[in-house]
Amino acid sequence: MSKLTRTALAIEKDLLAKFDKWMSGHGYTNRSEAVRDLVRSALVEAEWERPDAKVIATLSIIYDHEQHELAQQLTALQHADHHAILCSQHVHLDRHQCLEVIIMSGTAKQLRRICDAIISAKGVKVGKLTLMSRKI
Ligand code: NI
Repeated sequence: MSKLTRTALAIEKDLLAKFDKWMSGHGYTNRSEAVRDLVRSALVEAEWERPDAKVIATLSIIYDHEQHELAQQLTALQHADHHAILCSQHVHLDRHQCLEVIIMSGTAKQLRRICDAIISAKGVKVGKLTLMSRKI
């Protein structure tokens, strides 16, 4: 961890009260830690706005494994970009549904393209992309 430095900020009283309520509702007991995490989150999002930024991500999807050829299609999509797919975990949720979590590394543009192709595949019910970065 890099050395901490102190700073001060001016903030409206009402806004600070809302922030304090938010942070205690999310398990924070320290304003500085809450602010640092929000700053990091904003910086990760900013990094993802650069198409060529080298980023990491997880994609979680739920799909119906009985959908015609979907499982093969999802496998083919991942093989097509195998350098960007670090690993995946598959869970059989019930008789019909599967949960898959895919961990990826590549450029922001590449990972968004892969995620769009996977999430838009017929039979994928929901997909959530979590943006991450090594540079935090
Ligand atoms: Ni399954």
